[in-house]
Amino acid sequence: MKATAKAHTNIALIKYWGKRNEQLILPTNNSLSLTLDGFYTETTVHFRSDLAQDIFYLNDTVVTGEAYNRVTHFLNLVREQFGHKKLYADVRSVNAVPTAAGFASSASGFAALASASVKALGADVENDELSRLTRRGSGSACRSIYGGFVEWEKGTKEDGSDSFAVPIAPADHWDVRVAAAVLNPTEKKVSSRAGMKRTVDTSLFYQGWLDGIPQDLADIKAGIADRDFEKVGSIAEANCLRMHATTLGANPPFTYWNYLTMQVMETVRELREQGIPAYFTIDAGPNVKVLYLPENEARVEHALRELSGVNDVILSRAGGPVTYQN
Ligand code: ADP
Ligand code: DP6
Repeated sequence: MKATAKAHTNIALIKYWGKRNEQLILPTNNSLSLTLDGFYTETTVHFRSDLAQDIFYLNDTVVTGEAYNRVTHFLNLVREQFGHKKLYADVRSVNAVPTAAGFASSASGFAALASASVKALGADVENDELSRLTRRGSGSACRSIYGGFVEWEKGTKEDGSDSFAVPIAPADHWDVRVAAAVLNPTEKKVSSRAGMKRTVDTSLFYQGWLDGIPQDLADIKAGIADRDFEKVGSIAEANCLRMHATTLGANPPFTYWNYLTMQVMETVRELREQGIPAYFTIDAGPNVKVLYLPENEARVEHALRELSGVNDVILSRAGGPVTYQN
């Protein structure tokens, strides 16, 4: 009863920002992402009859506390769904992505955990069911079951049965690339979970965020189908700015940006002024991801590496779906 799965992270071009049900992890809006091949998690789950509780190793270190609780809570859902209530697991996971630094380790982490645990139990599930289950670990993770461009349908049902990801276009549809600018660590961030809750509960700008989603989604899907980079990039950038604006309208107000974040944003705007199409997007942290086309890779990477405060630049192509090792 053992299996290994590899899942990539994804970067949202239309952000998931807010829940209508926190326990079931049901979102207030549809989101759309690109799976990235440069960042991934590989997880082996071994259900063993000799264990009295789950054990979780991340990057060869035993994990306790909140991160352990999230994993064991998720495994309880798996055990419940597949009828193995008393069987505990030895989980070994390796992140080829910085953990809890705004690089969506939770997305690849829970997609790999869900896939490996279901496979280890010998269950035969369709991808939409796997995505629905993965969603319970972390919302954005449900998109990482698929490669390429992926939409998470928010669904309308109270039980969440119609809230899961669907593929829009595979990775080989379009060679769009993403450069992740890794910034110097600054103060501790508000987690995405806590940040989105605060904005839903208190932000005066939250309704404005929701009002913009249907148009953004329709336009970006047309842009992806037509491989219209400027259209896709400018919609993604504007959508990211509107998501981050909601945090400024919250009570108490907060922001994920620091001065380095703004410096990278400015550099991307300057690249555009020089005729290089490049667009930024930012998740719940200070680091910036830059979208560009292959012919501009050297110029984009160089411009980012030039900035003091940028520790590293990690380049990524569109990534594929979850894969299994055995
Ligand atoms: P990030 O930007 O890295 O996604 P989050 O704070 O949203 O940051 O999520 C990080 C959390 O995700 C970790 O604290 C841990 O609970 C969980 N996580 C990260 N990697 C894994 C993994 N490989 N397997 C299971 N859970 C993971
Ligand atoms: C800004 O998926 O980490 O990255 O569902 O509470 O685990 P939970 O939140 P999470 O939030 C991701 C927020 C985001 C936008 C996105 O990925 O769509």
